[in-house]
Amino acid sequence: MRGIFLKKRLDDILAAAEDPHCSLNRSLGPMHVTLLGIGAIIGAGIFATVGTAAAGDASRPGAGPSLILSFVITAVVCAFTALCYAEFAAMVPISGSAYTYSYATLGELVAWIIGWDLIIEYAVGNVAVAISWANYFKTFLHEYGVNIPDWISTDYETASNIPHFFDTVPHFFGIPICCNVLAFGIVMLITVVLVWGIKESANFNAGMVMIKIVVLLFFVIIVLKHVPMAQMSTNWHPFQPNGWNGTLAAAAVVFFAYIGFDAVSTVAEECKNPATDLPIGIIGSLVVCTVLYVVVAAVFTGVVPFEQLKHLLSSEQAEPLIIAIHNAAPDLSYAAKIVAGGSVIAHTAVLLVYQLGQPRIFFSMARDGLLPSVFAKVHPKFKTPHITTIWTGVVVGLVSSFASIDEMVDLTNIGTLFAFVLVCLGIIILRYKEPDRKRPFRVPGGPWLLPSLGIVSCLGLMVYLPPASWWRFAGWLVLGMSIYTSYGYVHSHLGTEFDRPRHVTGMLKLAAVGFLLVAIGMYTIPHDASPLALVQQMGDTASPMHGRSTIGVMMMLVGTVMAAWGLIMQQSEKTPA
Ligand code: ALA
Repeated sequence: MRGIFLKKRLDDILAAAEDPHCSLNRSLGPMHVTLLGIGAIIGAGIFATVGTAAAGDASRPGAGPSLILSFVITAVVCAFTALCYAEFAAMVPISGSAYTYSYATLGELVAWIIGWDLIIEYAVGNVAVAISWANYFKTFLHEYGVNIPDWISTDYETASNIPHFFDTVPHFFGIPICCNVLAFGIVMLITVVLVWGIKESANFNAGMVMIKIVVLLFFVIIVLKHVPMAQMSTNWHPFQPNGWNGTLAAAAVVFFAYIGFDAVSTVAEECKNPATDLPIGIIGSLVVCTVLYVVVAAVFTGVVPFEQLKHLLSSEQAEPLIIAIHNAAPDLSYAAKIVAGGSVIAHTAVLLVYQLGQPRIFFSMARDGLLPSVFAKVHPKFKTPHITTIWTGVVVGLVSSFASIDEMVDLTNIGTLFAFVLVCLGIIILRYKEPDRKRPFRVPGGPWLLPSLGIVSCLGLMVYLPPASWWRFAGWLVLGMSIYTSYGYVHSHLGTEFDRPRHVTGMLKLAAVGFLLVAIGMYTIPHDASPLALVQQMGDTASPMHGRSTIGVMMMLVGTVMAAWGLIMQQSEKTPA
């Protein structure tokens, strides 16, 4: 296996960060870090997903007023992981977040998997936020009488579900033109800010965070002022209209609203005093956001009755706070404008932190040789990882101009929960492996209790996500294995200490193609099918999904055999020491 489970020594990790050619600018204090956390957390989740979480949709029951409880449950799940992140981030204050921690505890292969998985959290998550940003920005301008044409603000899939949409858009050689230029534009703008410099970016973020907290408080105050408490408590009954299923399904959806506290750890190398700044930033931002969310959820479910929510179209559920404002004070048009504007700002802050985090993970992976070294380059003047920042911006921008938001949210949630599971596991392992290492912050209650609760509760939330997100997630991980076998395995700096081949051998190529085939198979099968349903569709020639299921499963089987054969043969080959 030539070291694929070998762990990087923490001292080596810390020393690599001191290399003057590859080091970042240390300019952030605890306040900046907490604000970065809040900037990453409050966004599309509270402004957009609460409608679906409370009302439910075709694939899940709604929580109703128990949305308040869903927020508390998810906060507790996140708190277990936040404590683990805080311990890691203080002990290994290196940019790269969970990727770096797992390299030190679970070995190179797991580190690769988690680094690859974090792309889902940061880049795919940002695709979802950019799309949501575009929706709100369009609505915001609409409130002021400016109408953005639909064909430059809608993705192709959403458009194809709207009757007669394509009749109204321009055509190019008979092909309808439609893509989300707004989403692409905001991602590009953020990219320019990030290349400019981390300090400037953090200050920019701090301003936006203040505005969005004020807007959420404004929302709460307006509703409390106009809706009597007696009316609210009537709407809070029945508290759980769909029982615990509704509450927990909503908890899995609103998890999106909490994602982000972990992004703080990616700026570890840019903190003045990471040992204290990071725990304060991670835990502080989570606490502030939980309090705000619970209050907003209580007010929201108090002013919009469950029955009304259930009957709203899904597009209207996407602007739940605007519905609440209209319910509470229909004559106050300025209130809706302020909330819509605040939502745009909230989304912008989230985009900023995620676009900041993703390149720093690539940066760490490139520094370890798992990705080409060009990704570890730092700009001579701005001291930012400019190449990865620009690459990330272009890819996220392009995908967000074509993708649909729902699929992106579910995929982000499952990928992030998986990363959280590995981080909690890493804490347990490292407490035993390196008990004497200096830990400026420790998860309270010993090595087992809270990390184990974190693992179990994250897995519990994953269960409530739809099968489609599981297939897409598995496909993504297998695609990552294809890249690891065809690049990272032979270029890894740690791997050079072993007798790994220096080039991609024929057997490694075979394995890489095999993994690629499995991934394509996973994207070919119908995503909403469970494994059992897939087998049934394959056996039923009359099923409309028979062809897709059969071709997809065949690809998966052939790919698995090729990957296994390639790896086994590679393993038995002798390479010169
Ligand atoms: N927590 C972030 C949001 O709600 C992802 O937008």
